[in-house]
Amino acid sequence: MAKILDGKAVSAAVKERVAAEVAALGTEGVSVGLAVILVGDDSASRVYVNNKKKACEACGIRSFEYALPAETTQEELVALIEKLNADPAVNGILCQLPVPRHIDDKAVIAAIAPEKDVDAFHVANVGHIMVGDYTFLPCTPAGVMELLHSADISPEGKRCVVIGRSNIVGKPMAMLLLHENGTVTVCHSRTKDLAAICREADILVAAVGRAKFVTADMVKAGAAVIDVGMNRDENGNLCGDVDYDAVEPVAGYITPVPGGVGPMTIAMLMQNTLTAAKQQNGR
Ligand code: GUN
Repeated sequence: MAKILDGKAVSAAVKERVAAEVAALGTEGVSVGLAVILVGDDSASRVYVNNKKKACEACGIRSFEYALPAETTQEELVALIEKLNADPAVNGILCQLPVPRHIDDKAVIAAIAPEKDVDAFHVANVGHIMVGDYTFLPCTPAGVMELLHSADISPEGKRCVVIGRSNIVGKPMAMLLLHENGTVTVCHSRTKDLAAICREADILVAAVGRAKFVTADMVKAGAAVIDVGMNRDENGNLCGDVDYDAVEPVAGYITPVPGGVGPMTIAMLMQNTLTAAKQQNGR
């Protein structure tokens, strides 16, 4: 039976730490602010944005929400970002992805000032992460590392397998595991013998975006299985990329969905926003 890596509990502790620091900054007259931009009416994105706003409230961070219509042009969106770049009340800027198809997400990310890029998606921040010299870490991979640390799981010398090679999760996840001396393999849709590679993993991170993709035969006994997925199963119920009921008896550690990586992502966003505010105020 696997130990549960409880993202709700660990994220609550992170947010408490952030809230205490935000309050301390407040006594020095420094406020912390996050601008969240949502373009269009994707219902999942709306839920994520609402959760981010709620977390800001819990941490004493001011949130500035910009809900823009789906037909917003790229020029209009970039103009808003440039205005927020220049606004000293805004320490962090986040544009919820995906944006509508007529907008180039790379251009949007490039428009965000790197020092306000609390998602750590800007190529300048990606480069800093690559060389191991960073201010911000992307929120989901950073949240996964925090969860591992909370259970004293060190990647050092371990076989780590990441399924998925997205810029948001898979690639930076691999880099963070590598920074902590894991031996990392990144798998993707063209990988051959995926199950056999996954079975070698001491730490297995699933970021594929396919419901219950990781089955028990892909998991080594005692492995730490981290589920980054958020999907609907055949009955419309929320589920991850891991077939939880089948994998849980095999794994040593496992993250539930919901209540695993999801809350950690938001907690790390709060931490990044605090870091941005401290940096911008010479703290
Ligand atoms: N869409 C899915 N995950 C994320 C995230 O971490 N940040 C942003 N901006 N958009 C997302």
